[in-house]
Amino acid sequence: MLEKNNHDSILVLDFGAQYSQLIARRVRECGVYSEIVPYTITSDEVKARNPKGIIFSGGPSSVKTPGSPRPDMALFDLGLPILGICYGLQVMSLMLGGKVDCPEKKEYGIANIDIIRQSVLFDGVSRKSQVWMSHGDSVVALAPGFECIASTPNCPYTAVENRAKGFYGVQFHPEVVHSLEGTKMIENFVLKVAKCTRSWNMGSFINDSVKAIREKVGDKNVLLGLSGGVDSSVAALLIHKAIGDQLVCVFVNNGLLRKNEAENVINLFGKHFNIRLQYADAEKDFLDALKGVTEPEQKRKIIGKVFVDTFYKEARKCGDISFLAQGTLYPDVIESRSPSGGPSSTIKSHHNVGGLPEDLKWDLLEPLKELFKDEVRELGKELGLPDELVYRHPFPGPGLGVRCIGEVTKERLDTLREIDAIYIEEIRKAGLYDKIWQALADLLPVKSVGVQGDERTYREVCTLRAVTSEDAMTADWFRMPYELLQRCASRICNEVPGVNRVLYDITSKPPGTIEWE
Ligand code: XMP
Repeated sequence: MLEKNNHDSILVLDFGAQYSQLIARRVRECGVYSEIVPYTITSDEVKARNPKGIIFSGGPSSVKTPGSPRPDMALFDLGLPILGICYGLQVMSLMLGGKVDCPEKKEYGIANIDIIRQSVLFDGVSRKSQVWMSHGDSVVALAPGFECIASTPNCPYTAVENRAKGFYGVQFHPEVVHSLEGTKMIENFVLKVAKCTRSWNMGSFINDSVKAIREKVGDKNVLLGLSGGVDSSVAALLIHKAIGDQLVCVFVNNGLLRKNEAENVINLFGKHFNIRLQYADAEKDFLDALKGVTEPEQKRKIIGKVFVDTFYKEARKCGDISFLAQGTLYPDVIESRSPSGGPSSTIKSHHNVGGLPEDLKWDLLEPLKELFKDEVRELGKELGLPDELVYRHPFPGPGLGVRCIGEVTKERLDTLREIDAIYIEEIRKAGLYDKIWQALADLLPVKSVGVQGDERTYREVCTLRAVTSEDAMTADWFRMPYELLQRCASRICNEVPGVNRVLYDITSKPPGTIEWE
């Protein structure tokens, strides 16, 4: 959607590496726009995008396996600099006349390279720089025109260059943090070899987006489902900056929110930012529909369905709407790409299950779809979103509904809200909030005997959980200080009626998921 022509850019060809997104992020950290495209992109398509350079990512395949991925040969004749990383180096070497083999000594983990020849790729990099290796195959004979610029004992051609053509290759992964000066190497390629100008930053992104949103929307109206999470909040502020009152946000209070959350959203967006807010208090609808339901998947389905029904009911009250805005991020776009490589524009299922009703015909507006999560946070800060919201832990769409194990009732939700508020408050007070990916409390449908004062109690049990994670795919349980756990347990038992026992969950993911349901 954005007008990219005024920014220099680097294309990352994705050969299936788990690190492709990281490469694009590192390039953007240099102040240069970067996009990930499938390795099948043709040279004409590359030309049309007008990048200043190309990076071939790593990948899980071996170039020696028949049918393994090959980029368009014509890419090498575009006159554009290319940096090949791991598989990217091997495939470039092979296609240009070098040899790749699978030597006996494979290399995984940390290594120190020996820079044996001065190269612009290593400007400002120490001679024995630490890098991260992960490869089976290696280049064993250079392609014509290439020279070796660095090696390790197990991998003679660790880094190579064809200076005349601007082709570079590294066997290690400069994009990962274990390659201590890897970002410097990527920066050298981007700024010194591809000669990009640094022009990509959140200030320029805001200006470009505001212009693009105004052009796309014209005098029409836009609807956005505001959840109180980072993505929809940032999308709301950005669109509001562009079109003011042509944006209307629908905020559904499903009764499954955290303590004070509905008030906070109304105060911040409705009052402070002055955004048109259509508030739906649907607590009763949700709780009625959830009555007697204990099975997790059934709960999720019900919550999803009531949300969609409520959202559409509210949308119909918002007048003439032409666009539905969503806080879709770049990783969602990459992950949902069709095999042909075209970015998918399907509406996220947990936002909008089952497609649009007949009488609501909206186009999609996704102003964050070029951004990574940390860029969205930066953008949020730039747009004036309070830090507390910008750095908030993830919170699931079905909210406390999937943390209230067993039947979801108003009374049990109120209990859980109090527990959660104490837990998060204590974590914040201890300065640990930002060290944790996610902290959550669950209320169990189990009662235990306790004694408080001289009185025997028979009350429910709650669990506290905190995990560290990079992307929620895997997670480790957080080693919470005992004193903090002790304070939480004591406060919860004293301050929250209905609970007399507190447990701490030490399950990692796998085998556990982050949420209990
Ligand atoms: P699990 O429990 O599968 O969760 O390990 C991984 C991450 O996803 C969040 N989560 C959700 N987020 N809608 C969401 O927007 C959902 O239905 C949902 N379920 C789980 C969870 O909190 C964790 O961050």
